[in-house]
Amino acid sequence: MIYLNNAATTWPKPEEVYQAADLSFRQMCSPLRASSREDCDTYPLLEEARKEVASFLGAADPERVVFTPGCTYSLNLAILGLPWQPGDVAVMSGLEHHAVSRPLRKAAREKGIRFEVAPWRPGVPIDLDFVERTLKAGRVRLVACTMASNVTGEILPVREVARLAHAHGALCLADAAQSAGLLPIDLASLGADLLACAGHKGLLAPPGVGVLAVAPGIHLNSLAEGGTGKDSGKHAMNLAHPLALEVGTHILPAIAGLAAGVKWIRKTGVDRIRAHEMTLAARFLAGLEGIPGVTVYGAKEPEARTGVVSLTLRGHAPKDLARRLSDERDIVTRAGFHCAPLAHETIGTLPGDGTLRFGVGYFNTESDIDAALDGLREAARG
Ligand SMILES: Cc1ncc(COP(=O)(O)O)c(C=O)c1O
Repeated sequence: MIYLNNAATTWPKPEEVYQAADLSFRQMCSPLRASSREDCDTYPLLEEARKEVASFLGAADPERVVFTPGCTYSLNLAILGLPWQPGDVAVMSGLEHHAVSRPLRKAAREKGIRFEVAPWRPGVPIDLDFVERTLKAGRVRLVACTMASNVTGEILPVREVARLAHAHGALCLADAAQSAGLLPIDLASLGADLLACAGHKGLLAPPGVGVLAVAPGIHLNSLAEGGTGKDSGKHAMNLAHPLALEVGTHILPAIAGLAAGVKWIRKTGVDRIRAHEMTLAARFLAGLEGIPGVTVYGAKEPEARTGVVSLTLRGHAPKDLARRLSDERDIVTRAGFHCAPLAHETIGTLPGDGTLRFGVGYFNTESDIDAALDGLREAARG
């Protein structure tokens, strides 16, 4: 199988990740919920993982790095946990995933806020003038911006978005689902107040774990209440981070796998991972130029994008093309709307059938790219 669906979930994972998840599962007992042998040695694992992830993301205080069930949950917590007032405003880019746009729609329905969508145009993934004008108009509490689109692969200027938001008293939420582990992230210089990551994508973890980094001074209301293993005899929740936002028993195998994934990325180097994916994406983009009827969405320059490439081929529905590549060449891609109808409306593929998305990963090779190009050339011939 040629796996070109790494934007959905990365596969395979480094051997160290499988081993760490397996070991923690075999040795696991419940952190903070046992009374011997340092809580069965699992609490150190949790806190070591937290430190590892915090230092990887450049978060000054590990206690403000929260483990969640996934990036979707992290984004919901960030958006719905804010103390919104009716009449408040949120701004989001036109490339946001459901994991951002749906909680914002929920906040609009249930908390009386409204949201604005910043325009996109080819070569300009977010209109910063629009963001600034909306901020100047007042009542903006949050600007949400994906760091890299899961549809076009474009990289968005989150640092600039955060600077604008702060200049007008708003917070910046960055969705790093498609960038953590693939692009350098240093929270100190990025300036995002809330940063959400998926474990199972670029961070190479098993599914079931996500991360939300919360800047000092920001208080989020929890989305769920329950046991934390601490203050067990009290009725009220202890509101201190991170445990106030991590109720219930942790998914330790996934967290252990996440820590191993992050260690592996540090050993390999984000720059090396990025360089490899850029080289493959550039090879793919160059090859696509010679195929009649292909439209590629988003920036053309490899530096302005990740390893995600979305395209359409004239006369072929994306889902039929995906099926053909799978049946005839064992190539796995993803066709359709990628849980991001807003992004597809933005780039003009909704209404329509969406796009066929190729998600290049670190374990792909030039021959995988060439096989995908051969398959598309053949389809274009009829
Ligand atoms: C940009 C973006 N944000 C958020 C998510 C949600 O991640 P998860 O499904 O791991 O919760 C995804 C997943 O595809 C994504 O691509």
